[in-house]
Amino acid sequence: MDELEEINNKLYMPTHHEKAIISKYESNMNFALSVHKNGFHNMGYWADGPESFDSASKALFDFVVSSLEDDAKECVLDVGAGFGATTISLSDEHKCKNVFGIDVSYSQVEYARKRHEKIGANNNVYFQQMSATEMQFDDDVFDSVIAIDCAIHFNDRVKFLDEANRVLKKGGYLIIADACVNKIPSSYFKRSVVKALLKMWCVPESNVYGISDYRNKIIETGFETIVENSIADKVWRPASEFVMSNKFKDFVLESNDLGKYYLLKAMFKYLNKGYEEGLLDFVIYKARKI
Ligand SMILES: C[S@@+](CC[C@H](N)C(=O)[O-])C[C@H]1O[C@@H](n2cnc3c(N)ncnc32)[C@H](O)[C@@H]1O
Repeated sequence: MDELEEINNKLYMPTHHEKAIISKYESNMNFALSVHKNGFHNMGYWADGPESFDSASKALFDFVVSSLEDDAKECVLDVGAGFGATTISLSDEHKCKNVFGIDVSYSQVEYARKRHEKIGANNNVYFQQMSATEMQFDDDVFDSVIAIDCAIHFNDRVKFLDEANRVLKKGGYLIIADACVNKIPSSYFKRSVVKALLKMWCVPESNVYGISDYRNKIIETGFETIVENSIADKVWRPASEFVMSNKFKDFVLESNDLGKYYLLKAMFKYLNKGYEEGLLDFVIYKARKI
């Protein structure tokens, strides 16, 4: 595609925030790939008691894209594509004609390209290092923009919504699956803990709001919302229970160091606590550009 060659020549300069994201994801790449062997790398949808992060992550992706209409499959943008499994599946399994996967992490983009080459899949799949908040695409080019478990990181989400609206054709679909931090608690101790976790998780404070504000922001950007579905009960508790299980421990320790395992356990303990205290949600939106 000529347009992609032009994009290739533009130099991507990560912002300070994006440098932190890149470092977070790249330093954990090997560990993440040992846990998410199939390359789907998200919090997962644990409705039917999946047995692993592999199956739960794939289930979240399938749940989110199963509603993709045929008229939405001509030219699709997969934002925050990670290891590229979502992008490749959009082409192979969901029969999207042209699929672009973008991510700020060059190592992940390279990994995704190699994965795609290795499985000898369709040649209508493209990967590019690019930010969700400053896309290099022309206006009105995509039929769908999909962002799975990544928008909470963007600095900030509203900037991404503006960009998604710009690059979508009129009537095009925006599909988001995203964690929501509803609020920062007011008590000094909890506030400090949540702020520290937001920093560790690379979440800008401007992305802290609940799902009704999220929906309003989507609408204010020039979309009509078709679906809003909170699936928090199928994410935080079952994912956390799985991470605490002996099954996961045995699985991880076969190939990994103890340090990352204990860090993950601590993270999920706080995530589940956040969910139980009403601070955390997980939402799916499907919206259409007006
Ligand atoms: C949890 S992973 C999700 C990967 C993929 N969507 C999936 O479900 O397998 C989040 C991804 O978002 C990417 N990301 C974070 N901020 C980004 C930005 N501003 N633009 C593009 N990608 C970004 C990260 O590098 C990471 O690969």
